Amino acid sequence: MLGRFSRRHFAKLAGFSALGLTTSAASQDSQPSHAAGQQASGHFPDGFVWGTATSAYQVEGAVNEDGRGRSIWDTFSHTPGKIADHSNADRANDHYHRYKEDVGLIKQLGAKAYRFSIAWPRVFPEGTGPANPKGLDFYDRLLDELLADGIEPFATLYHWDLPQSLQDKQGGWQSSDTSKAFADYAGYVAKRLSDRVRSIFTVNETGRFVNFGYGWGIDAPGLKLPTAALNQVRHNVALGHGLAVQAIRAEGRAGTRIGPAENIAACLPAVDTPGNVRAAEIATRELNAGFLNVILEGQYTPGFLDYAGKDAPKFTAAELKIISSPIDFVGLNIYAPQFYVVASDHAPGFEVLPFPASFPHMNSDWLRIGPETAYWVPRLAAKVWPINTIYISENGTSADDKVASDGNIYDLDRIMYLRNYLTQLQRATSEGVPVRGYFLWSLMDNFEWIYGFEKRFGLYRVDFDTLSRTPKLSASFYRNVIANNAVDI
Ligand code: BG6
Repeated sequence: MLGRFSRRHFAKLAGFSALGLTTSAASQDSQPSHAAGQQASGHFPDGFVWGTATSAYQVEGAVNEDGRGRSIWDTFSHTPGKIADHSNADRANDHYHRYKEDVGLIKQLGAKAYRFSIAWPRVFPEGTGPANPKGLDFYDRLLDELLADGIEPFATLYHWDLPQSLQDKQGGWQSSDTSKAFADYAGYVAKRLSDRVRSIFTVNETGRFVNFGYGWGIDAPGLKLPTAALNQVRHNVALGHGLAVQAIRAEGRAGTRIGPAENIAACLPAVDTPGNVRAAEIATRELNAGFLNVILEGQYTPGFLDYAGKDAPKFTAAELKIISSPIDFVGLNIYAPQFYVVASDHAPGFEVLPFPASFPHMNSDWLRIGPETAYWVPRLAAKVWPINTIYISENGTSADDKVASDGNIYDLDRIMYLRNYLTQLQRATSEGVPVRGYFLWSLMDNFEWIYGFEKRFGLYRVDFDTLSRTPKLSASFYRNVIANNAVDI
């Protein structure tokens, strides 16, 4: 079942891929679009932020401790048939109790930043109403530990673990009451933690959880809503993001930095020509119209609204203003190339090429290998939107990560992937693309949603029986990158 749904289908199923696509011939222009030879020696800019990432439900465990409420992922993972290996994250990595050891793992890498998420149901067990007095205690401890080790915390407020009662009461993100509840939660967290957390990601991967969770029934809450309702869900998430930005500004310390972490629809020129690059810019804007573009431009594109027709989200001008509240950075989660495009004479000016069956992928079959994604996506984003700070809020890969007879884990495929993506990212920074940091997914193997513990993305291998953590060879690779502030090309 799982194999039928890969995130490369997201745009198609979300109703965007047919947007003006034509069958016209690929553009044949042949001028290079940028000067060659600008790539420096493999070094990243001074002050580049190197980090790793995890999320609450995937690592914390302790789902019944200290007054935590239930989340939609507790319900979903306990529903038979939803998780490939029939597991759940009740214990996961037990990070809730082992956070000191885990902060030590970050330190051993030499990483200076850590992206983690806060579990909304720990803070407001029912989503709204009285805060749990113990709800932020764990994060207080975690923050203190990180700061004592000189590691800068980047907190994500919503990494998919919606309080179950909001789903039960009001259909979760189907209601704009959830957008408002999210803002209240965001303001509360900012008030309590922004003395130590200076950078906050609002929502992780709207492009995934809306479609997978509310459209196709693959992720929690497992709904298959019709297109109009799905578009409304996405709009409510965008509204929640905007309201949260305002609440954090109102309640948090001055200077708290805010932005989304989005799995941007990754559009790349199939062949690097000026015409195709322009086509990729158009595609970047149109294929991200439902979330990133409305946040950054304050309007739904005419193409998006035309295509959606009667299924377009209902919105007001006042909501668009809230949604596009000024932000400080954009986080881009970058894994696979999704749309290789060429120029087209027909509106809207680009054509998406089909992937050949032989296109290579990593251990996860959705994770096609396209290192140049790490170059084009930030470059095009910075061209299309007024962004002056980009973080790669996630990048990484699964691998089979078997323990060799000598006890080591020789994850050479992960190293190959990282080396190539980082080389392309460095190419972007050397051309002045404003990428300021990189968070490798993931610090350690964890509960990979519908795949359970079958897919391993960590720099550290976790034995889910003993919960011991062991560095893989890629941990040495990344340590070396961080130490040199350069990729070893
Ligand atoms: C991103 C998520 O989608 O990619 C992470 O933000 C996730 O939470 C990672 O773990 C890998 O995805 P998957 O679906 O293979 O577990």
